[in-house]
Amino acid sequence: MARLTEIGWEDFHALPLEAKRAYLERTEGDGMPYHTLFAQQFDRATLERLCALANRIRFINKSKEGALYLKSVLAHKRAMLYFSQPSSRTFLSHLAACQIMGLTTGSVRDAATSSEFKGESHEDSIRTFSSYFDMIIMRSPEQGLAEKMAWELSNSSRPIPILNAGSGKDQHPTQALLDIYTLVRSFEEKGGLDGRTVVFCGDLMRGRTVRSLSYLLTNFRDVRQVFVAPQELQVPADVVMILAKKGIDFEVTDDLRGAVKTADAVYMTRIQDEWDSSKGASAKIDTSRFKFGAEELKLLPKDGIIMHPLPRRDEIATCCDHDPRAMYWRQMRNGMWIRAALIAGTFGFEKTVMECGY
Ligand code: NCD
Repeated sequence: MARLTEIGWEDFHALPLEAKRAYLERTEGDGMPYHTLFAQQFDRATLERLCALANRIRFINKSKEGALYLKSVLAHKRAMLYFSQPSSRTFLSHLAACQIMGLTTGSVRDAATSSEFKGESHEDSIRTFSSYFDMIIMRSPEQGLAEKMAWELSNSSRPIPILNAGSGKDQHPTQALLDIYTLVRSFEEKGGLDGRTVVFCGDLMRGRTVRSLSYLLTNFRDVRQVFVAPQELQVPADVVMILAKKGIDFEVTDDLRGAVKTADAVYMTRIQDEWDSSKGASAKIDTSRFKFGAEELKLLPKDGIIMHPLPRRDEIATCCDHDPRAMYWRQMRNGMWIRAALIAGTFGFEKTVMECGY
């Protein structure tokens, strides 16, 4: 069985993402991840299992007895939320997911309040967390840090799983899971997600949610992907290469209105100006045509939905918020359920929860 203890860091790091997957599974061939680091770990079967588990948890949680049962499932586990980058939803939904499944939690939300400020290495900090907790949920501005920490932990005397809650400009796998869950739920009574058109708009260059979701969508049949952005912020070459290699139908354009007319889902994103190499660089880009407002709402098909990982600025006008096609608030809540499912699955409790009597 492929194990992270049997491969050196340099060799593991150099593998293509899809080849890394086998090293990160809970048990060989099971599909459920142990460490969750990137979207390439999830195939359609695993995505469907997670959506089913999230639906199940959501249902069980409706009654007091059910909610108390769920709280007992992982009551023997503790999770550390280690967020060294700003976050509201990702932090709180992971926290709420832990609470639903009964985990107790601790958190560091600012490296300045931890010993890293005194010069402690990430490796030593993570080893410290693993002494007290059974899982680390981490967000970091550093691309690849979650992967390095996962390897370190698996090669330590106290291996525990890592959930990547956003790594640099690179990946945001749990956001992509909640996005897929939202899409699957939105279309489940309308013929499913296969054959749909998903339009991405905004800062596609630096939006990690876009990279992760674009990949997950390739697991579905004939899902067309349209990328709408100013040239400076268009979808990066690595994403395009994956789509081309997989024979996915995609289009790169700057015509939002044209794309909206054909959309089943429009996925709006914020300009990620925290990554600007010089201060104010993004402000010089004309983004006026990459916003969703009353006009775009008129063009969106009747069953089309509007999504956003949030936080938003002005890329979706608030006049859209009460339209039944505005899915971003429900999308946000979906994050809590799918993360509860992922945490239960990570600890090997998928079957227990699916088959419980509630
Ligand atoms: C995103 C992120 O942090 O990558 N938000 C999120 O996790 N819900 C997108 C963003 O910050 O714009």
